[in-house]
Amino acid sequence: MTLQIDRLFGLSGKVALVTGGGRGLGKMIAEGFIAAGAARVYIASRNAAALEETAAEISGEGRCIALAADLSTVAGCKALAAEISSRETRLDMLVNNSGAAWAAPLENFPEHAWDKVFQLNLKAPFFLTAALLPLLGAAATPGDPARIVNVGSVAGEVAKSLGAYPYGLSKGALHQLTQMMAAEYAARHITANALAPGRFPSKMTKNITEDENLYAEEVAAIPLGRFGRLEDIAGAALFLTSNAGAYVTGVVLPVDGGAALNRG
Ligand SMILES: NC(=O)c1ccc[n+]([C@@H]2O[C@H](COP(=O)([O-])OP(=O)(O)OC[C@H]3O[C@@H](n4cnc5c(N)ncnc54)[C@H](OP(=O)(O)O)[C@@H]3O)[C@@H](O)[C@H]2O)c1
Repeated sequence: MTLQIDRLFGLSGKVALVTGGGRGLGKMIAEGFIAAGAARVYIASRNAAALEETAAEISGEGRCIALAADLSTVAGCKALAAEISSRETRLDMLVNNSGAAWAAPLENFPEHAWDKVFQLNLKAPFFLTAALLPLLGAAATPGDPARIVNVGSVAGEVAKSLGAYPYGLSKGALHQLTQMMAAEYAARHITANALAPGRFPSKMTKNITEDENLYAEEVAAIPLGRFGRLEDIAGAALFLTSNAGAYVTGVVLPVDGGAALNRG
């Protein structure tokens, strides 16, 4: 059989949900899915106006659909799952991407910030995935599993935290949750993998990109010598969600220019 690239990496006819798809990494991933031919890509977060703008920008044909959702509560996760379930009979790909960071000195780290970070980065992927399992199950086949992609972070793998303690801890736990999901759901033909991005330009990293010295310091610490870009994260997400990644589960894939090599 001759390999056809569009059959290997294409997402023709697929339905996806990308949380936090209105901007930053989520937008890059949603853009990749649309470019690969996905039928419908739902993007969901709190800011409905920003989501609508992104949906129109990345797909003039209405294939990208904005849904307002607040995932800071389990009720919000369940409401989003119910909304998707009212529109679709199956979900091929779920990308748990919404996330938040908070940095402060360890001695006086605010408890509410700890809770906020853990709620969005760890509890939301857990409860949203649980609520969407029936729809993922409806899409799953042995040859073409349904896909869960959790957006973790290099911060979940290394000790350097820049004061964002619960952020790194929540991402480390999300990587572990990904492996648990992979083990648990394999028999249902659902894969679960995590992306562990390094530095990408987004609102979350604005404090770095807008500070010339800090930015230079951060770039110098990345073995490949640059921040990530659209192709880097969209390509990795496409690998995990297309036929190319159908036999891959339980993996935490660094997309970090080698940053995790600086573990020590
Ligand atoms: N940028 C990096 O260098 C980097 C590196 C490693 C990992 N990551 C991870 O990549 C993911 C995306 O981050 P980003 O860099 O793109 O940052 P970002 O631009 O700040 O994006 C965060 C996203 O989360 C959404 N969000 C925040 N609170 C939410 C809530 N309560 N309910 C639903 N959605 C909510 C935001 O949308 P609304 O404001 O509309 O709710 C936004 O779309 C995160 O999980 C982050 O940890 C980023």
